[in-house]
Amino acid sequence: MTSMRKLVKVSDMSKEWWDDLYARCRDIIARPDVYADSCRGKILASMFYEPSTRTNFSFQAAAQRLGAGVFGFSDPVGTSASKGETLADTIRMTAAYSSTIVIRSPQEGSATAAALYSEVPIINAGDGGHSHPTQTLTDLTTIAQKRGKISDIKIGLCGDLKHGRTVHSLVEAMEMFPNISFYLISPKELKLPDYVLERMKSEGQQYENSESLIDCIPELDILYMTRIQRERFKDAGEYRRLKDVYVLTKKMLDGAKSDMQIMHPLPRYGEIATDVDNDPRAAYFEQARYGMLIRMALLLEFMHLPRELPQLAADDKAAAPGECTNPACITQSDTYLPRIISRSGADRCGYCDKKTTEMLL
Ligand code: NCD
Repeated sequence: MTSMRKLVKVSDMSKEWWDDLYARCRDIIARPDVYADSCRGKILASMFYEPSTRTNFSFQAAAQRLGAGVFGFSDPVGTSASKGETLADTIRMTAAYSSTIVIRSPQEGSATAAALYSEVPIINAGDGGHSHPTQTLTDLTTIAQKRGKISDIKIGLCGDLKHGRTVHSLVEAMEMFPNISFYLISPKELKLPDYVLERMKSEGQQYENSESLIDCIPELDILYMTRIQRERFKDAGEYRRLKDVYVLTKKMLDGAKSDMQIMHPLPRYGEIATDVDNDPRAAYFEQARYGMLIRMALLLEFMHLPRELPQLAADDKAAAPGECTNPACITQSDTYLPRIISRSGADRCGYCDKKTTEMLL
């Protein structure tokens, strides 16, 4: 088993690591009783600074199915964050009480920041509009289970590709697999962010842009629907204008392949009509269950790692050429954080991957 100590970005994963993780997940599915006590005495700390149902519950259920304990919060109001405690201090203390920390926050790069101060593994459960690597594990598991392999797939990504962190992470993870092509279906206001598109181009990933869901449907092996992310819009009027731009109905599936899979990270907010739920191609509720199973495989690895204070990796130490100006980035509030560079480019912030200004240093 190849080991790693954090899962904060998709770039932390390798194909070899995924193969080992998925093999363990398959064994958990086949023999759940064997694993019932495999994390007895371990504790998961669950820090949710932003709303969640599936991700939060599935991590808690995963930990408990392995025999581990869980503590945490699903709303930061009752915590010292509301007294102004820094993320670094909260993490140092939480790590002292737990075996693994899972964190969700509206601030981009928060899990990367947390990993700098934690003696125990950090898992990113979603950092603002940036990334969501364990949803990607969920998505990969669903695809592997439903199709038997992850290759030779035409995937339609539909909806809010700008703010949807699950699609940013899924696109990046698909670099590991052969012959995957994308249909990027969104209004022009909600296209994938530049840093994702630039990486797709530099990796030679195949994609086409479209604004029409119905035109793309006949081509697709997987249709990955997403919610228009109301909480990330600065302009409420723009949200109202775009919120119902795509609604998948049963009728629209007439032209789809009979074995197409319809996926959605959930929650939905009208973009999949309920008459689709009984169609055999609707995979989104099963997908949520696979999320718990692959998180069990992940916790089983992380919870048994020894404590270790992280050091800045040599390739992370070089400061980015300017300060990050992304208002959603963790570096805006937690100004003590060291500057680190992004693997997407030396002119990008190592926390949120957005371009930095060229001014300082
Ligand atoms: C997604 C998320 O939080 O990014 N949900 C999830 O984790 N299952 C998608 C969303 O909120 O639209």
